Amino acid sequence: MSLEHHLIQSSFDKAAKKYEQHAVLQRESLNRLLERISDDFGDDTKTHPKQILDLGCGTGWAVPELLARYPEAKIIAADFAQSMIDLVPKHPQVSSRVSDAHAIDVHAQSIDLVFSNLMIQWCDESTVLQEIKRALKPAGHLHLTTMGEHTLHELKLAWQDIDDQPHVNEFVPAAKIADLTMNLGFEDVIADSEFITMTYANVIDMMRDLKNIGAHNVDNNRPKGLTSPHVIKQLTKNFEEFRTEEGLYPATYELVYLRARKPGDDKGLPLKIK
Ligand SMILES: C[S@@+](CC[C@H](N)C(=O)[O-])C[C@H]1O[C@@H](n2cnc3c(N)ncnc32)[C@H](O)[C@@H]1O
Repeated sequence: MSLEHHLIQSSFDKAAKKYEQHAVLQRESLNRLLERISDDFGDDTKTHPKQILDLGCGTGWAVPELLARYPEAKIIAADFAQSMIDLVPKHPQVSSRVSDAHAIDVHAQSIDLVFSNLMIQWCDESTVLQEIKRALKPAGHLHLTTMGEHTLHELKLAWQDIDDQPHVNEFVPAAKIADLTMNLGFEDVIADSEFITMTYANVIDMMRDLKNIGAHNVDNNRPKGLTSPHVIKQLTKNFEEFRTEEGLYPATYELVYLRARKPGDDKGLPLKIK
């Protein structure tokens, strides 16, 4: 595991207890993703997923919603942060486990739906998508959200004339993640995105929230240490052009939705390669 991987893991481990309190954006994204999966499975219980994997499940926020939609499903809630897993709701149909998405602790071809809200942007996307493909049954579904390249564009621009350091994570463009998914042999791949803007009374509140959300930079080349009052003043000045009519400071996220299907027929048999 790289240093960054350990840093991400320990930062989520520490964040677990207060996660739901701060995760306004993640909750919004989760609700929107849940709406989208309903489109795929319809009302007929026969077509509902029987085995669901919530990958990077955090505190298991999605678990009650998934059970309400699919009351007969078994759910595996997996996350690499033990403190997150400790908070997953206990239920006879839910099995939770500490597991890294780069080597998921589930049997091959055992899952009907992989559901993942705002996890893959912390990972090596290609490795995780290959693991998801291994875990899915033939014709199994993948639904995930991630952050797109335009995320926090205001903040990136505001930093631009202050220094050349990376202050905002670089996120993969939606088209690139769709290409990657197709190249790995998934079918019916659709990626689209929408913007969600959060607003703050000042730049300090914004920076604090980004840290809580985990959107702050974890790049190895990131500047270490506190941001000085002088830099905060300059950042605030650079943000002037973006301020809303109410005088608030915006942080815009590009939320990318990716859906795909593993090849195979609807009886769960892999397609024969001619
Ligand atoms: C932004 S939180 C989202 C949590 C949850 N999906 C939700 O909607 O509330 C991202 C989660 O991904 C987990 N995560 C990040 N990288 C991971 C990895 N490589 N393997 C497993 N979990 C990971 C973190 O521990 C964290 O709980």
